[in-house]
Amino acid sequence: YGDASQKIDYVFKVVLIGDSAVGKSQILSRFARNEFSLDSKATIGVEFQTRTLVIQHKSVKAQIWDTAGQERYRAVTSAYYRGAVGAMLVYDITKRPTFDHIPRWLEELRAHADKNIVIILIGNKTDLGDHRAVPTEDAKDFAQKEGLFFLETSALEATNVEEAFLTVLTEIF
Ligand code: GTP
Ligand code: MG
Repeated sequence: YGDASQKIDYVFKVVLIGDSAVGKSQILSRFARNEFSLDSKATIGVEFQTRTLVIQHKSVKAQIWDTAGQERYRAVTSAYYRGAVGAMLVYDITKRPTFDHIPRWLEELRAHADKNIVIILIGNKTDLGDHRAVPTEDAKDFAQKEGLFFLETSALEATNVEEAFLTVLTEIF
């Protein structure tokens, strides 16, 4: 996997969803710019960033969309999901309610997105392992039952962020 400069063979839209403050924007920032901020502001509306990678000798432009977890700041749902070929469903491993809400996010995703969309469940903030509230096995079981990929990440430590995006992008491919 390298970084491509010129010709783009594919553009893949991937959406990030999950409760507020689980780290969606920082996962994106880590992937797109290799940056992380501890005083990240809640997202309002929709933002997106791109990064071009080479996968199996083709240059793939990943266009990653990020919206607010907070209902009042959220973007128009149908527009957000339109054309998405991948989705990252994020919870915070230290906040049980963010995991308990995952079925609702999945329901919304399945109601609005293409039925062939590739989905990965992501448990973020593994650097805060001392405060873990969601056992890895619970999430793994849920992901298996629902047919989702699954990884635990830390945007802060840059653990598995690249792997999570590559899992989705390679599978779309
Ligand atoms: P909304 O935009 O409101 O939906 O939130 P979000 O999911 O985009 O969360 P955001 O990325 O803004 O992160 C929320 C807080 O968690 C910020 O203080 C981040 O610095 C922090 N954070 C994000 N990822 C990690 C991580 O991997 N580890 C730790 N310790 N903190 C993180
Ligand atoms: Mg955000």
